[in-house]
Amino acid sequence: MTGGWLEGEVALVTGGGSGIGRAVALRYLAEGASVAVLDRDAEQLDGLPEGVLAVRGDVRSPDDLHHAVAATVERFGKLDVLVPNAGIWDYHRSVTRLTGKELSEAFDEVFGINVKGYVLAVEAAWRELVATRGSIVMTLSNASFHTDGGGSLYTASKHACLGLLRQFAYELAPRVRVNGVATGGMRTRLRGPESLGLQDRTLAASFARNEASGDRQPPLIPLYDSGVEPEDFTGPYVLLASRANSGTVTGAVIPADGGIAVRGFRTPAGGAGL
Ligand SMILES: NC(=O)c1ccc[n+]([C@@H]2O[C@H](COP(=O)([O-])OP(=O)(O)OC[C@H]3O[C@@H](n4cnc5c(N)ncnc54)[C@H](O)[C@@H]3O)[C@@H](O)[C@H]2O)c1
Repeated sequence: MTGGWLEGEVALVTGGGSGIGRAVALRYLAEGASVAVLDRDAEQLDGLPEGVLAVRGDVRSPDDLHHAVAATVERFGKLDVLVPNAGIWDYHRSVTRLTGKELSEAFDEVFGINVKGYVLAVEAAWRELVATRGSIVMTLSNASFHTDGGGSLYTASKHACLGLLRQFAYELAPRVRVNGVATGGMRTRLRGPESLGLQDRTLAASFARNEASGDRQPPLIPLYDSGVEPEDFTGPYVLLASRANSGTVTGAVIPADGGIAVRGFRTPAGGAGL
């Protein structure tokens, strides 16, 4: 395609085998970019269209991330955009429902993937991004700003990602722009920690259960009546990656969460929920 917003750019998306990462990878492709995806799930990688470079690996491994960056540069010649995105959720497990041992193990797993995974992705990619004066577009969350988007571990991990975004924007300026998209609830296969036995739960199944029980909004969906599919959240990722349209933007987060900050998680009963 010609005339896309990311014509000629090269992007690497972590956790791009599923959910919002996959949707961003496909949207970047449609906008004219060449795209590589790192994911730990071989089956998800197999489902990516031809032309996307699929690299199997775990974001907790510096070697896997360096390999993904090297493979991207070998295939496409450079790297312009990094999307740190791979993550897991804690399925709202409150501190009052977990033992110290469970918390300790789940902390290591949630922070290992959600936070260390972002740090290591940036470490592996920054040299190539400096070379292209590229950018980073992180997946953040409503849980980067607000409570009740998960339990304490998930909320803290997503707040930590906001800290990383700001610090990396400072450290990598003026060569590399660092921004983020704080998405709200989306119908994805977002998993829970293996250490809590939640590795096979998916957020999509929780949505389906809630919808079947007659709840107007699936859990975590604030105020949009539509727009729960990951594809509906990709626009801000394109905008922030675009040199022409966001060349002066760094250290910024676009909330794409349906307005949680102004209206909370639920439409008020019989109230302002139009
Ligand atoms: N789904 C939501 O409602 C929601 C809301 C806000 C933010 N997010 C964030 O979006 C991001 C993507 O999640 P999603 O909802 O698309 O879930 P998803 O499970 O559909 O996609 C996540 C992908 O990351 C991969 N992954 C997980 N751990 C990995 C690891 N250690 N190494 C490599 N790959 C790994 C998975 O295999 C999967 O393909 C996460 O950071 C999540 O916190 C999701």
